[in-house]
Amino acid sequence: MRKPVIAGNWKMNLTVQEAITFVNGIKDELDAIHQVERVIAPPHVALTAMADLLGGTGIGLAAQNMHYLDKGAFTGEVSPLMLKGLCQYVIVGHSERRMYFGETDQTVNQKVHAALIHGLAPIMCVGENLEQNESRLTDSWVAGQVQAGLVGLSSTNAQRVIIAYEPVWAIGTGRACDAITAQHVIQVIRSTLSILFGEQTAQVIRIQYGGSVDVNNIAGYMRQPDIDGALVGGASLKSTWPQLTRLAVVDS
Ligand code: 13P
Repeated sequence: MRKPVIAGNWKMNLTVQEAITFVNGIKDELDAIHQVERVIAPPHVALTAMADLLGGTGIGLAAQNMHYLDKGAFTGEVSPLMLKGLCQYVIVGHSERRMYFGETDQTVNQKVHAALIHGLAPIMCVGENLEQNESRLTDSWVAGQVQAGLVGLSSTNAQRVIIAYEPVWAIGTGRACDAITAQHVIQVIRSTLSILFGEQTAQVIRIQYGGSVDVNNIAGYMRQPDIDGALVGGASLKSTWPQLTRLAVVDS
């Protein structure tokens, strides 16, 4: 069955030295939790140090973003070629990238393809904003983002994608989406995947929930049949991160 993925997205936090200190403090405890895939997503500048520190552990590394081209005149960007070998996953289309850096479903789709070509597992983020949520547009909006982000993938490649459902209004607000509602939207995502790639593939693709996940609510999400993990922001920077990951191991 689907192995859950618990990923910590640090966003723009921690210097390299702070990252080393933090990870040294949690890595043994985190590494011991084999039932779920454990991933951390530090800022790009800390990836090399983290790769050195986590070598030989079962803890995976994700980049928070990348360009879809291998190289070129794109000042400030990082390419899949540079990430390959350094990390195993890459977050694409996070709502903060869509909101502040002009990412569109089309660029997200290009990044998904680029990641897969280079052997990186894309964690593709989707989610509605508050206005869409209040207008009851969530299901259609999210299904549309999934479809657009995965255009042109074969069923085989689609199986390597991880999708993160992150309602924008729940991110960093302490106002988490309740587990039943998250399960509903994630089930809509799985139905969309079934239409796109067939039921067998849809049953293999991991779908996470993200948005104000913490030690108090993680187990509730993990008990839902379609929720296969979490993409966590603020709580992944705390010393309780291994505890949160351990609480994600539930009998569903
Ligand atoms: P928070 O867990 O801080 O709400 O952030 C969620 C998120 O955006 C993870 O990518």
